[in-house]
Amino acid sequence: MFTLETAATAAYVVAALLFILALAGLSKHETSRAGNTFGITGMAVALVATIALAINHQIEPLGLALLIGAMAVGAAIGLWRAKVVEMTGMPELIALLHSFVGLAAVLVGWNGYLHVEGDAGGTEAALLSEQGMLGIHSAEVVIGVFIGAVTFTGSIVANLKLSARIKSAPMMLPGKNILNVGALVAFLALTVWFVIDPSLWLLVAVTVLALLLGWHLVASIGGGDMPVVVSMLNSYSGWAAAASGFLLGNDLLIITGALVGSSGAYLSYIMCKAMNRSFISVIAGGFGIEAGPSEDKDYGEHREINAEAAADMLTSASSVIITPGYGMAVAQAQYGVADLTRKLRDRGIDVRFGIHPVAGRLPGHMNVLLAEAKVPYDIVLEMDEINDDFDGTSVVLVIGANDTVNPAASEDPSSPIAGMPVLTVWDADNVIVFKRSMASGYAGVQNPLFFRDNTQMLFGDAKDRVDAILAAL
Ligand code: TAP
Repeated sequence: MFTLETAATAAYVVAALLFILALAGLSKHETSRAGNTFGITGMAVALVATIALAINHQIEPLGLALLIGAMAVGAAIGLWRAKVVEMTGMPELIALLHSFVGLAAVLVGWNGYLHVEGDAGGTEAALLSEQGMLGIHSAEVVIGVFIGAVTFTGSIVANLKLSARIKSAPMMLPGKNILNVGALVAFLALTVWFVIDPSLWLLVAVTVLALLLGWHLVASIGGGDMPVVVSMLNSYSGWAAAASGFLLGNDLLIITGALVGSSGAYLSYIMCKAMNRSFISVIAGGFGIEAGPSEDKDYGEHREINAEAAADMLTSASSVIITPGYGMAVAQAQYGVADLTRKLRDRGIDVRFGIHPVAGRLPGHMNVLLAEAKVPYDIVLEMDEINDDFDGTSVVLVIGANDTVNPAASEDPSSPIAGMPVLTVWDADNVIVFKRSMASGYAGVQNPLFFRDNTQMLFGDAKDRVDAILAAL
């Protein structure tokens, strides 16, 4: 028989399929808009079905008003933030949103405890114990609270690091690996205890332990590894949502959580491979990495160049490679860079782009900016495709990039970014670095490239300097 209940279940299946289509769409540049539309539609279907179910379960009018009121306020804040956020501020916003998922999972877990284990004489506890499910419920509570609390504080630290409100350098507490492993062992012991004999103080202990662990895990990871941390927290937030789904008996939340959790884990794995990092080491809060920041070395003097001389160098070049980074995004220099590319190509100069997998602050950040400025796709190459071509290139323009072109990564084993693959720009005949000062990049590591014989610094805002070169051309 057709009931609101069966309609809502059908709607959940449709929403789950739309979420899978969203993930498939988001995996390719060309289909990403369609992927987004599938995701938005799936979420709208899921929300309508959930409200319909609540009405069917005779939710009180006050409850319904609170639900709709909370959704309206949340939607308004979400729309406002999404409208005003700069592209460069996106990762910190995403980190903040992950923290909300973590907090929600903690609250759902606590709610589950207060309604069942905390109300031992109540109907829900009696029902679950009759079905022999009370222990499973307790395990769901404690695991949900743990994953949620780790995600909550971990994401807050990620947000603070990404927005530069705290230092991006790794926090190095003595015996940090023992602290992490000890916290996990304590969690396992507390879980077993809670399942056997649930009590309020045990849940408080697990919550506090997980909040501290989340903070410590992310604080211990260096700035250069933050891209992996953000995708890892994305994965954790998925598992936190799935844990809430079990507690609330909501299948769609379990499916969605598992999709986010596993796709986030896979993205973290791909990123770790691209950055030559150990996946296990990063998810365990930099486990096994004991190297501190490299000491201040004297690299000698740097040389400067002005826009006119840079323009001269470019006009006499036969090949140019542009390696953009976070500074191009900050300066919004991509339109000038696209104009410069067109002008140089019109003069018969071979111009290509080399894109590092973690340039900027988002996966694909540079590709999006260059596509926005209408730079042809076929001259925008990935690091692996272009790294062998720097040797023999006349001029490389490093526009607002720093960590991604740092030779210390391949030459200094004590560097915090040691082992991370970088664009080998120094192999070119000439390198011009566009930046405002000699300041270090996101990872907080000095860049010996700036002091090489074939490197010249073009100081100033990247957009102004590119415009000045265009004027000189
Ligand atoms: P960064 O190492 O962040 O360096 C950017 C450089 O741009 C800075 O040294 C800065 O120097 C310069 N800059 C800033 N504003 C500028 C402006 N208006 N005009 C000219 N220059 C400007 O850049 P990168 O090479 O792209 O590396 C990315 C870093 O971010 C990596 O460490 C990566 O791990 C991390 N990260 C990446 C992601 C993802 S997923 N892509 C996410 C989080 C973190 P001045 O201040 O001297 O101008």
